[in-house]
Amino acid sequence: MNLLVVTGASSGIGRAIANRFLVDGWNVLSIARRPCPEAGVDSLLCDLAEPGALESLEGALSERLAEADRICLVHNASVMRSDRIDGLASADLQEVLQLNILSANALNRLAAPSMGPGSSILYIGSTLAEKAVPGVASYVIAKHALAGMMRATCQDLAGRGIHTCMICPGFTDTEQLRGLIGDNTETLAAITAMSAFDRLIEPEEIAETVAFASHAPVLNGALIHANLGQRER
Ligand SMILES: NC(=O)c1ccc[n+]([C@@H]2O[C@H](COP(=O)([O-])OP(=O)(O)OC[C@H]3O[C@@H](n4cnc5c(N)ncnc54)[C@H](OP(=O)(O)O)[C@@H]3O)[C@@H](O)[C@H]2O)c1
Repeated sequence: MNLLVVTGASSGIGRAIANRFLVDGWNVLSIARRPCPEAGVDSLLCDLAEPGALESLEGALSERLAEADRICLVHNASVMRSDRIDGLASADLQEVLQLNILSANALNRLAAPSMGPGSSILYIGSTLAEKAVPGVASYVIAKHALAGMMRATCQDLAGRGIHTCMICPGFTDTEQLRGLIGDNTETLAAITAMSAFDRLIEPEEIAETVAFASHAPVLNGALIHANLGQRER
């Protein structure tokens, strides 16, 4: 049995990934605070920003992982907060790192022993995994750290037939992006104009890239830009 475990499939890119793997006949398990709305997806509810929250799901999770022959684990859940390096409280940074990094680490530790050849660990990054813009310091820090985790995954799991990569979306039309833009049509126009295709990315386009990456061991260790090409000014 093929099993997709994806964090944050209650909306946006994660939901599209869940749907894409369902179409391919995979069993799909979402981990987020809200259930995944796609029929046929199994949801474990959990606040990944809470230390120890995943450990309480360990029993349920291990049971499902043990039944799978091939596992694709996608680290997708994240939030983008407005914060700056000269005012970022340690507690706030800790919460962001708990969600993005420590939860991913705990999930890797839980899942790795059950992962047979053909399995994969895929990380959802961002253009901000490789560069910074002002005003989103904790997000930039978390995404850079996630890129490091992906590279360590490649090195430490070498020889086991498990591959990894990081897919880095550009501006994608999801709750997260719409929440940041609000009703501001000027911001939307400015963001759209940064794309070489003059449009936002659809979550399904990222999901398609993730599905491709899940059966492409040749991408092991790669950081993949999935942003339609961004205009440089
Ligand atoms: N949209 C973009 O333009 C864009 C660009 C680059 C990268 N990305 C990346 O793509 C990924 C998905 O983002 P999206 O745009 O699809 O955002 P989204 O629609 O807001 O979805 C975020 C998902 O993360 C989950 N999540 C957030 N906080 C959580 C927590 N504390 N515990 C458990 N789950 C939590 C949410 O589930 P619950 O609320 O149900 O917990 C939700 O399912 C993220 O890694 C993001 O950084 C997005």
